[in-house]
Amino acid sequence: MPTDQDKVIAITGASSGIGEATARLLAGRGARLVLGARREDRLNAVVDGITARGGTAVGVLVDVTRRADLRRLTDTALERYGRLDVLVSNAGTMAVSPFDELRQDDWDAMVATHVTGLLNGIGAALPVFRRQGTGHFVNVSSTAARVVKSPQAVYAATKAAVHVISEGLRQESGPGLRVTVVSPGFTHTEGVGKGASPEAAVAMIRMRDEIAMPPSAVASAIGYAIDQPAGVDVGEIVVRPTAQA
Ligand SMILES: NC(=O)c1ccc[n+]([C@@H]2O[C@H](COP(=O)([O-])OP(=O)(O)OC[C@H]3O[C@@H](n4cnc5c(N)ncnc54)[C@H](OP(=O)(O)O)[C@@H]3O)[C@@H](O)[C@H]2O)c1
Repeated sequence: MPTDQDKVIAITGASSGIGEATARLLAGRGARLVLGARREDRLNAVVDGITARGGTAVGVLVDVTRRADLRRLTDTALERYGRLDVLVSNAGTMAVSPFDELRQDDWDAMVATHVTGLLNGIGAALPVFRRQGTGHFVNVSSTAARVVKSPQAVYAATKAAVHVISEGLRQESGPGLRVTVVSPGFTHTEGVGKGASPEAAVAMIRMRDEIAMPPSAVASAIGYAIDQPAGVDVGEIVVRPTAQA
């Protein structure tokens, strides 16, 4: 068994925001990282920043909506480091809009990223975890899953699905595997308002700039769940700014 310090951890959506902050935190603790995202330049910058500080990380171009890409992510962990201890499924898009705008491509992207993307991660990592007898799924949801605020219904529905899938997976996992949901509230990242309808984007960015917590707060919560002893499963952590209603 690896120690908490040298776990092999794969993170999707590691090119910015919460994923990037989580990668930096875990690298500082000695984890060996496999980082996935679509934007090559941003992903390389994260990997280079970590390795320049003496950390261990490799980047893999991953679109989580593609099954084969998640397989490449987990295969890279096995090829480079011989195992995979944790998969952090964090990739996400907050392209929210009112239903009347009929932004069906955005609806599809949220379903594909948060639901199919999560399932693709499970499909790639579960057989690895079963072979090893240990493994940890950390799935990033949102406080939006619990409190539906217009115009976030599709986003909220896909994040609610993260909870449902995670709970079912936990029940089937058995004693060797762990499943954690981390539900952030408003977090100061570039993803807030990105791709959203203009009115929604303005409101979200204003709220973010007024009350959001730094992505390092979410990274710490993820790190806490990972650091628990093998037989201890942290089921869910909700972390939000004190000012969030
Ligand atoms: N910020 C908040 O207030 C907040 C609150 C609750 C929950 N969350 C959740 O936290 C997670 C991270 O979001 P963030 O706030 O850190 O925003 P962000 O900075 O925009 O990060 C999103 C990450 O997901 C990646 N991504 C998006 N679609 C992808 C795909 N199809 N395949 C692979 N990677 C993909 C992006 O990278 P590429 O574009 O390079 O692929 C990026 O690295 C999301 O799941 C989000 O829903 C955020």
